[in-house]
Amino acid sequence: MKLETLARTASTIDSFLSSRLTGEPRDLYQAASYLIDHGGKRLRPYMVIKSCQLLGGTVKQAIPAAAAIEMIHNFTLVHDDIMDNDEVRHGVPTVHVKFGIPIGILAGDLLFSRAFETISKPYLHKSKEVGLNLVTTLAKACTDVCEGQALDISMAKSNKIPNESQYINMIEKKTSSLFIASCAMGAITANKNLSDVTRLATFGRNLGIAFQIIDDLIGIVGDPKITRKPVGNDIREGKKSLPILMAIKKANNQEKKTILNAFGNSSVSKSEVERAISTISALGIEKIIKQKAIYHSNTAKKSISVYDGHAKKELLSLLDFVVERSL
Ligand code: IPE
Ligand code: IPE
Ligand code: MG
Ligand code: MG
Repeated sequence: MKLETLARTASTIDSFLSSRLTGEPRDLYQAASYLIDHGGKRLRPYMVIKSCQLLGGTVKQAIPAAAAIEMIHNFTLVHDDIMDNDEVRHGVPTVHVKFGIPIGILAGDLLFSRAFETISKPYLHKSKEVGLNLVTTLAKACTDVCEGQALDISMAKSNKIPNESQYINMIEKKTSSLFIASCAMGAITANKNLSDVTRLATFGRNLGIAFQIIDDLIGIVGDPKITRKPVGNDIREGKKSLPILMAIKKANNQEKKTILNAFGNSSVSKSEVERAISTISALGIEKIIKQKAIYHSNTAKKSISVYDGHAKKELLSLLDFVVERSL
């Protein structure tokens, strides 16, 4: 699975997306489509489409749901960058930096409401049951993201280092919820029964966990030329991610001191952050983290073992992409 494969699928929803994100005032709509226009892997729409195809549905059936989940995803990114004080994403200034915090907040809100408009009209019109099911699924995912983001913030603020299961619970909510919704919505648009929706949701949950574990690894040891976002921010912000938990667990006193000196310290120098990063790398964290991600990827694989066909192959290679990616 290559990024180009994702991009090809993305192009099937991009024109639909931009048609749903035009209007007045111009700067509000520009702010809402800004991140989408400047990149993004379109993982979640890809999962909606492939889940729908896996169960015998068509791309056309999945498109409004695929576009809606990408809008919700971008809503979470715009607000997340405000919360995380991040200034660069997709290699360009974040929305609140470029347009100011008030328009940033509104752009996120607009993406949120437009997503619900985008699914309610076409699906409710065709089938009340399918439409309501989609709206409820997407709304639940948004509630979970809010809970997860609040947990992420309170963990970063706290002096305590969480354990692995607290970390997994937090990322399930902040990240997996949109992957769960993507797969479940794909299954619902194909008009499938509850057991299909449940299997696909399990796939999304575990793919999402693997995805965020790797994202947190990239956030520490990633190459900013590839990720197009600055390195070291998670450390400065004191994000209690799995690579950090593992590093602290393995570190001796001196190493711990080097890591904790940079951790959650917004005024730390670039070279001190670099020292913390190389200390974490030298502890062999990368290998441990990849194994954890592979474990969740294997659980995801099992959850769709009852299916066959091309879309299944594509979902399985998406899992490999998620674990092996550097972007
Ligand atoms: C970023 O997600 C936010 C997380 C959940 C870590 P993506 O990596 O999927 O975002 P895009 O590709 O920039 O849209
Ligand atoms: C990912 O947040 C989850 C959401 C955006 C809801 P992060 O803060 O971990 O992700 P990046 O590093 O900003 O993409
Ligand atoms: Mg962030
Ligand atoms: Mg965040």
